[in-house]
Amino acid sequence: MITGKYPNLRLRRSRKESWSRRLIQENTLSASDFILPIFIIDGLNKREQIASMPGVYRYTIDRLAQVVDRAVKKEIPMVALFPKIKKNLKNEMGTEALNENNLVCKAILEIKKKYKNQIGIMCDVALDPYTSHGHDGLIKSNQIINDETIEVLINQSLLQAEMGCDVLAPSDMMDGRIGKIRIALENSNYKDVQILSYAAKYASSFYGPFRDAVGSKKSLKGDKKTYQMDFRNSDEALREIALDIKEGADMIMVKPGLPYLDIIKSIKEKFKIPVFAYQVSGEYSLISSAIQKKLIDKHAIFESLVGFKRAGANAIVSYYADRIDEILKY
Ligand code: PBG
Repeated sequence: MITGKYPNLRLRRSRKESWSRRLIQENTLSASDFILPIFIIDGLNKREQIASMPGVYRYTIDRLAQVVDRAVKKEIPMVALFPKIKKNLKNEMGTEALNENNLVCKAILEIKKKYKNQIGIMCDVALDPYTSHGHDGLIKSNQIINDETIEVLINQSLLQAEMGCDVLAPSDMMDGRIGKIRIALENSNYKDVQILSYAAKYASSFYGPFRDAVGSKKSLKGDKKTYQMDFRNSDEALREIALDIKEGADMIMVKPGLPYLDIIKSIKEKFKIPVFAYQVSGEYSLISSAIQKKLIDKHAIFESLVGFKRAGANAIVSYYADRIDEILKY
């Protein structure tokens, strides 16, 4: 309850000095709040700039240490791996997702060999980096087919778990996939592999630069509205989350981030489950290019990240995570 009355109560009193402002701070950020996404490419000794995401790169496996070292030193708890595979490896069925020598598998092995359990590894479970049509699932008669897609996602999950992935993150939005993946993990002795469900994933324009980064933008036919959610809805997000919790999700992701803070807040209030926010590529590129153009100053990064904490997020997936020590100093 709000109590007190002017002039006895003057809220500006406690804002007057920096020490006092620091004392009454309600939220703060540390490296432990972040997950760093890393884009990987085939080849040797390459670090490629991503045109639509200033300051973000794609790394070949032999150069991964350059970015993972930094994350480990900063004590970022987890990295998220995203592959950009060659066009000739993509097909209608996304079969490269199940190749045990694919980019993600090689990257997991490399990181686990070098860093053991100093840092967690999270991998997307979805087919879009691997399909020639850029969709997250299989297509039959122009429809994304739910149950057949899940069968492939189960195998993708088991493969990634076998390689040493710690957290599987189904980002495909098929109905029922969390339960089926959970059972498959239990039956294959991967009981401790966690599932981070992208339970509330909206069909969003803010994914544009990411699709560039993984090379699925030009190939994407149509949109993802038959599986990703309508951004007009919030009750539907709570239904998705309730289902995924019942099916065995350990954590929940809300995506995109900033336009969906209300969703983070209501999940936290209703379900008391760890909730992560994904500050997606479009949000990153908007903020970064506005700073580059001097339309806003760089403190906007910190401000936008604290917003997630205020809303109740336990952690944030952010392309800024590798520079977090500079950002926290602002
Ligand atoms: C795909 C996936 C997407 C992102 C993460 N996993 C894009 C999509 O659904 O089209 C977007 C991340 C970002 O924009 O930063 N399953």
